[in-house]
Amino acid sequence: MQFSISISTPEEVIPPETWERVLNFLARTDRRTPYLLIDERRLRENCRRIGRGIKNSRGFYAMKANPDPKVVRVVADEGLGFEIASEGELDVLKSIGLTAERIISSNPVKSPEFIRDAYSYGVRLFAFDSAEELEKIQALAPECRVYVRLSVPNEGSEWPLSKKFGVEPPEAVALLKEAQRRGLKPVGITFHVGSQCRNIYNWSTALSKVFTVWRQVEKEGIQLKILNIGGGYPIRYTKEVVEIEEIEAVINQTVFSQFPAHIEVHLEPGRAVIGDAGVFITRVIGKAKRADENWLYLDVGVFNGLMESIGGIRYSFVVGSRARPKKWTIAGPSCDSFDVIARDVYLPEPNIGDIVVIPSAGAYTISYASEFNGFPIPETVLLE
Ligand SMILES: Cc1ncc(COP(=O)(O)O)c(C=O)c1O
Repeated sequence: MQFSISISTPEEVIPPETWERVLNFLARTDRRTPYLLIDERRLRENCRRIGRGIKNSRGFYAMKANPDPKVVRVVADEGLGFEIASEGELDVLKSIGLTAERIISSNPVKSPEFIRDAYSYGVRLFAFDSAEELEKIQALAPECRVYVRLSVPNEGSEWPLSKKFGVEPPEAVALLKEAQRRGLKPVGITFHVGSQCRNIYNWSTALSKVFTVWRQVEKEGIQLKILNIGGGYPIRYTKEVVEIEEIEAVINQTVFSQFPAHIEVHLEPGRAVIGDAGVFITRVIGKAKRADENWLYLDVGVFNGLMESIGGIRYSFVVGSRARPKKWTIAGPSCDSFDVIARDVYLPEPNIGDIVVIPSAGAYTISYASEFNGFPIPETVLLE
């Protein structure tokens, strides 16, 4: 079948080999939609790209992006560690027998139950950004290694994360000293430039800020070792993004010209590991003309997978029709008027029942999904 897309060619956003494998799969299946198809080979390639351009680096997959056990097994097999925030995420890792030494938690505010559970499993590396969190960690995970979350600019990221967490340099210095006073081991600094970060300068700005704190605490007799640069690597949704290799060249250059050579760099990408390895296979369930707007209704919407569409992520849509493109408003299946996933999308008109493929849907889709209004959470299918 010939496909058309809301951008020029599927290959603009989907790696060509992935697209070919998706088409082959569609040709031999009549599986009920919606489902999330994961290209295992692309997932493995993504895992291997992470940190390749940064010396002394170690990748920890941010499991919140997609905690499906099938995905987690592949990521673990590729040798990455995991960044987790909850007992639920830890349970998945326990179920595959992942050793605690490969797990860190960068959520600066953790539930006491989670800290206790992670500590008893053997996790020893936790982030914090307040005295209250230090008090909890001291009580429930004594003598652990801790790293402070710094607040950094999130300009140019499509999913900013700066407001909820992070402290400014003077407070970071005070907190690292406080950690030491409490018998914990202050070992590093972390930040997050914002998810789907399209501004390469965010990393350099953040690193300068980290450097100020690093030098300051060094003067106070605290020798840090770990620089955790968080996540934020972008993927293609509808447009070009700066490539991981380019970002890592900037990071590597900045880090190793400023920080001590023995530094260990931790990365915790989520989106860049699983995002473009996943495509949603959905179907048109209805169409309508309302005033002068053309509406297309799919079996996946805001509530059962495409939550990020209401927060700034613009997906592409691929249909099997070659008709002249029309302008569409695309909505999900629920009765809620919030359930609109895209506006002003140019697409050839599909029929009810036709398949619509949504590329780059591997991250922050199923992990956010609910069964609101009785619509099922799409199943995840691994394309081996
Ligand atoms: C602490 C932390 N680390 C890593 C990530 C992963 O970020 P991304 O998916 O943008 O790579 C997130 C995302 O929210 C996060 O909160």
